[in-house]
Amino acid sequence: MRIGVYGGTFNPIHQGHLQLALEYARRLSLDKVLLIPANIPPHKRAVQLLSGEERLELCRLACEGLPELEVSPMEISRGGSSYTVDTLRQLSQEQPDAQLYLIVGSDMFLTLEKWRESGEIFRMSHICTGARENGELSLLKEKQQQLTLLGATSTVLDLPVFDISSTQIRRAVGLGADLKTLCRWMPQREAQQILTKGYYAQEPESDERYLKCLGWIKDTLSPYRLFHSRCVADAAYDLALRYGEGAVEPEKARLAGLLHDICKDLPKEQQKSWMEHGGPVSDPLILLSPSLWHGFAGAEYLRERHGVEDEDFLNAVRYHTTARKDMSLLEKIVYLADYISLDRDYPDVEQMREACRESMEQGMRYSLRYTVSMLSDGGRPINRDTWEAYNQAFACPTP
Ligand SMILES: [Fe+2]
Ligand SMILES: [Fe+2]
Repeated sequence: MRIGVYGGTFNPIHQGHLQLALEYARRLSLDKVLLIPANIPPHKRAVQLLSGEERLELCRLACEGLPELEVSPMEISRGGSSYTVDTLRQLSQEQPDAQLYLIVGSDMFLTLEKWRESGEIFRMSHICTGARENGELSLLKEKQQQLTLLGATSTVLDLPVFDISSTQIRRAVGLGADLKTLCRWMPQREAQQILTKGYYAQEPESDERYLKCLGWIKDTLSPYRLFHSRCVADAAYDLALRYGEGAVEPEKARLAGLLHDICKDLPKEQQKSWMEHGGPVSDPLILLSPSLWHGFAGAEYLRERHGVEDEDFLNAVRYHTTARKDMSLLEKIVYLADYISLDRDYPDVEQMREACRESMEQGMRYSLRYTVSMLSDGGRPINRDTWEAYNQAFACPTP
């Protein structure tokens, strides 16, 4: 019998883990893959780590209807720190005829010889890993040769990428993700259990200014829009940390992200009237595009209703859907955060996130090209601000 051995914290288990386990089962003709949540002694517990029993239960729910996968409580039952060598030993004793295939992440594969009793691990199992990023495959193949000299047999696969992590899921739950959103990342039964039990649901923010601004939108936005706004706040904070160059305070970016859609759920007529509160609209195409009004409206609303006076802050809200030429750093941050926030799942979102990771300029180019092509494909007009931003982004040479 060929058995895959796949350990991890699984806090919580998600589609990335499940797809990986199924892919190995298929590609290596395994009879089954054992998913083994690690036991983590209480003194090592990180924030938001569920107990062993709770993580086991989530794994069982996630694997229902997947006969190739089996959840094993062996590390949690054994207690103490979980060492792979002990797990393999136990499995070898219980099933002496089984061939064991140890599935490890690429980062683990690169440090395998440093694991406790690595020689024993190599003797008892065949190691499997997979490249999850471009360029990683050659690095893993190189490591594979080194490990062969140490007596290990291994398989390195090129694997499909499922871009979600347990950390992101915990964060999303903390920001108010609903069942539908969680079901993008995990089976429904598991998602339901997380929400019913209130796992990971703690309020991630306690900053006074943040809570005050949250109060401004809590009752005016729909639950989904509120979740989206909190995700944009999160993404804006991260972008400011990365690209703010000390010129944009991450906390300020977070608040602008949080408030960017403050008028989105108002009736269109009210949005229009708030927009016109700021003076006549110079581009007639804006007047013809109700989906663009909420940004302009939001800036006037924040100034009038909540006394926000910071022009850069207001412009970040005002131009978050259209963009414009000569955007400030904060404007770009909010504009991009709205595209790449955790809740987004349009077809190009991964490429968009990748472009933003590369540089702010690449992010702007990708998002503006995406916007302009969506508009032109749909036979819709392109307003002046967007057009000028697009031309400016593509007028300078590629960095
Ligand atoms: Fe918006
Ligand atoms: Fe938005």
